[in-house]
Amino acid sequence: MSSQFITIEEGKLKGTKLNSLWLRERLSGEIYVDQNNMQRLYEPSLLDEDLCIKEFRIGDNFISIIFSDGAEGKISIDEIYNEINFIDCIPQKKIWNKSDKLQVFNNNKIHQDKNSLIEMLRSFYEYGYVIIENTKAEENEVINFAEKIGPVRTTNWGKLFNVVSKPNPNDLAYTALELKSHSDNPYRKPVPGIQLLHCIANESTGGDSSLVDGFSVSEYLKEYYHDFYEILTQTNVNFKFTDVDVILENKSKLIELDSDGNFKQISFSGRLDYVPLLKEENLKMFYKARKCMYELCNSDQFKIKFRLSKGMIAMFDNLRTLHGRTKFDPNTGFRHLQGCYIDHDATEGKLRRLLK
Ligand SMILES: [Fe+2]
Repeated sequence: MSSQFITIEEGKLKGTKLNSLWLRERLSGEIYVDQNNMQRLYEPSLLDEDLCIKEFRIGDNFISIIFSDGAEGKISIDEIYNEINFIDCIPQKKIWNKSDKLQVFNNNKIHQDKNSLIEMLRSFYEYGYVIIENTKAEENEVINFAEKIGPVRTTNWGKLFNVVSKPNPNDLAYTALELKSHSDNPYRKPVPGIQLLHCIANESTGGDSSLVDGFSVSEYLKEYYHDFYEILTQTNVNFKFTDVDVILENKSKLIELDSDGNFKQISFSGRLDYVPLLKEENLKMFYKARKCMYELCNSDQFKIKFRLSKGMIAMFDNLRTLHGRTKFDPNTGFRHLQGCYIDHDATEGKLRRLLK
């Protein structure tokens, strides 16, 4: 036989037609890919475009193949199956609301036991946040924790930022005011993927924390307020941050969808957003829709409330999970949080590595 494709007739790939070049690119022997980094040692664009499969045999969990250019090897059936069915070890997201249990993990366990770290990272992907207890209530501990997962993203706030009440702040986060549910830095390109907030002291009256699943709110809007959902997923809003050194701007929808119509990113910060001057009726609709989203994001229906106490870290998906705090009285005690950002490829990459 000699063909540019094979059709599998049995097993989990039954009925699947596999192209010769596609299979040839998946040979993983040492003459084809570097065994340390699994990168190809040849240029696949230069393979014979009329390449054929000369022979193949289906084994227990592999296909043995010989190609017309002399290349040969075994390819895992499981790996082909997972790849063509988009099966990923990164878990699916779970929509949640305030009735769901708070996802809390013990810092000592996740650093002593690989499975606890895997469980924490899986929960982070499912719920869009985790709370870590029993970290040292010391400065820079948030960086130490974050760097065990991946590189910290430095911004114009620096490698870490201190959330304390201070005079003449360049952001309302650095006051004692209440902060309604919001996402951080929607004016940045790209928007920081993951935020970590570490509590060094929270002795003030007030200053309780809250989280909201932005995807859960979006799902609710889609079901019960479809006109609002439509305009929020279609209107590009300008987010703007102004400081003495820099003016940062970025446009995005409040609810951003991917090309399949799935929730991709929530950008919500009433302190920073500027809607374009739409047609009168669309502008009215947008303002009603944003108000509705604001009310849902700050309602007891969706908001999970907790106190971030000394030694706790809240790690949340800044593209999905909104966060907020109640106002506090700095005269009643010291409140000091430190925060930093990391990227989603850090957590995803760490989880994939741990699972293989
Ligand atoms: Fe924030």
